[in-house]
Amino acid sequence: MKKHKVVVAGKVLPVALDVLQQECELHVWQQAEAMPPDLLYDWIKDAQGLFATNKIQVNEELLAHAPQLKVIAQAAVGYDNVNIHACSAHGIPFANTPGVLVEATADLAFGLILCSARRIAQGWEWVKEGQWASGRALPLGIDLFGKTLGIVGMGQIGAAVARRAQASGMKVIYHNRSRRRDEQEMKASYVSFDELLQVSDFVLVLVPLSAESKGLFGREQFRKMKPSAYFINAARGAIVDAQALYEALRDQTIAFAAMDVTDPEPIPTGHPLVRMPNILITPHIGSATVETRTEMALLTAKNILAGLAGKPLLTCVNSEANYK
Ligand code: GLV
Repeated sequence: MKKHKVVVAGKVLPVALDVLQQECELHVWQQAEAMPPDLLYDWIKDAQGLFATNKIQVNEELLAHAPQLKVIAQAAVGYDNVNIHACSAHGIPFANTPGVLVEATADLAFGLILCSARRIAQGWEWVKEGQWASGRALPLGIDLFGKTLGIVGMGQIGAAVARRAQASGMKVIYHNRSRRRDEQEMKASYVSFDELLQVSDFVLVLVPLSAESKGLFGREQFRKMKPSAYFINAARGAIVDAQALYEALRDQTIAFAAMDVTDPEPIPTGHPLVRMPNILITPHIGSATVETRTEMALLTAKNILAGLAGKPLLTCVNSEANYK
């Protein structure tokens, strides 16, 4: 009999299951929809490991049902579905997957900037709809060269986007809670949040979702931006007040929005934002490449195996609860 029971609370890449299966008894939720909490609580009651996904809530209620849990890990950098304080209070280390998804997510964020500035997705629609053949011109895009990119939340992903933007001749400014010591090396200047909103041609949001960042972008923030501004969200949907964004796009308070994240997800096709001509939405695919998703899955499996063995998790969020 295998030593440890691990609950996998959603679809994960088979490569991670292969690794875990060698040492653990796995209970895997295979359906596309979120695992019902009652079933999760039943499976978790005698489990030592949990492979979480952002479709489940790791909260006090779940932890109260999991007296034997030794480790929780999730294949994502964001963990707004996880109550970290509750994990620590129960002495359970939690790991995410920072680092391995930086370049892929930066590619996607920069891709949204480029794609919206140059109307790439609209151009494809134009061709498919026969508009090209009809002789009508696609509305003109704008240059990236010489424009200012303002990054709100300059972490590893922000720095990787900055490199891409600078290679295209953009100037990069940023706003963070704390100023980065390596900003000279990064060739990015720190500015206040208000200044960033006022002077940026592209505003890119990369902050994690928290009580502080929820609704950070509302009417007031859109009003402070240039009417020609492009707003790009590659972080979490709830950072933006969707109604305020809709009004800003409708009234041309800003020019364009591109988002890899929405609130809710998936965004319903009848949602007013989906109907706007000046928006581009992708289905939360920041890290969705073969290489990156494989690394994320393997790192999560390794974190679970480490925790089950009472060894330090490789990328633990709550270090106070990590094994020594
Ligand atoms: C994706 O959104 C992630 O948090 O990794």
